[in-house]
Amino acid sequence: MSTGGPRTLVAEIAARLAASGVASPRVDAELLVAHVLGVPRGRLLLADPLDEAQLRALEALVARRAAREPLQHLLGSAVLGPVEVAVGPGVFVPRPETEVLLERALALLPPGPGVVVDLCTGTGALALALARARPDAAVHAVEAAPGALTWAARNLTGSGVTLHAADVTAPGVLAALDGAADLVTCNPPYVPEGLAVSPEVHADPHGAVFAGPDGLDVIRPVAALAHRLLRPGGAVAIEHDDSHPAAVREVLAAAGFTDVTTHPDLTGRPRVATASRS
Ligand SMILES: C[S@@+](CC[C@H](N)C(=O)[O-])C[C@H]1O[C@@H](n2cnc3c(N)ncnc32)[C@H](O)[C@@H]1O
Repeated sequence: MSTGGPRTLVAEIAARLAASGVASPRVDAELLVAHVLGVPRGRLLLADPLDEAQLRALEALVARRAAREPLQHLLGSAVLGPVEVAVGPGVFVPRPETEVLLERALALLPPGPGVVVDLCTGTGALALALARARPDAAVHAVEAAPGALTWAARNLTGSGVTLHAADVTAPGVLAALDGAADLVTCNPPYVPEGLAVSPEVHADPHGAVFAGPDGLDVIRPVAALAHRLLRPGGAVAIEHDDSHPAAVREVLAAAGFTDVTTHPDLTGRPRVATASRS
């Protein structure tokens, strides 16, 4: 690696990462250099050249990213909208796509104190973002995987969010919240079993990504659970695969929901379903 300033290094690293098939090589290069320098990405080009120890640390990180370790595992954090959470092996890395779910969910939450339940919370990023946006709401986060629960507990400490260790497919789960919720959110696993995925997705826990032969094994029970948890007039918002809009609308209608609507993400792909409990 050259000993030039940050601008030269970013160009050199971006070329290496692009050659390794990384989807966003320039952004990743900037974030890795900024991480090693300890500066925000926006101040990178004003930073001093790296010293020898920093160059060695950067070289190690670039080699790992070129081997397709997720960027967020190397940085130790991931961003969802206005919140940053700690991540690493053993938990699903929150993705920018989920910001669409966050926006749709917040639009459905009426003013005033309310009860929000985030199913399949992973790191707790979505629950944390909802709680920060609506400090008047009582937010519950639900997760089954022990590895993910450790990260969620860390991220949600001091946030006021109540974390439940529970399987959302188990009969009678969360019975204490029956009919109490104003909003239920969920970004569940939804990839059909056996589908080829990128190395970065492969690094997520299997149970966070895949959900049975058609990818709907968790969404089906989640729709029924959301219907049971919501008060009349409450709403559900679920992220899904862009091949699933019609299937998810059917699942929600079959669970008893009305106003079932599919929403596009920023690239126009159908990725979020919302519905009302009438
Ligand atoms: C796609 S990840 C999403 C995590 C988080 N909602 C996010 O957007 O970053 C799905 C999460 O659902 C959890 N999960 C899968 N099956 C579950 C179940 N039956 N009960 C509770 N959580 C489950 C996984 O462990 C994983 O953390």
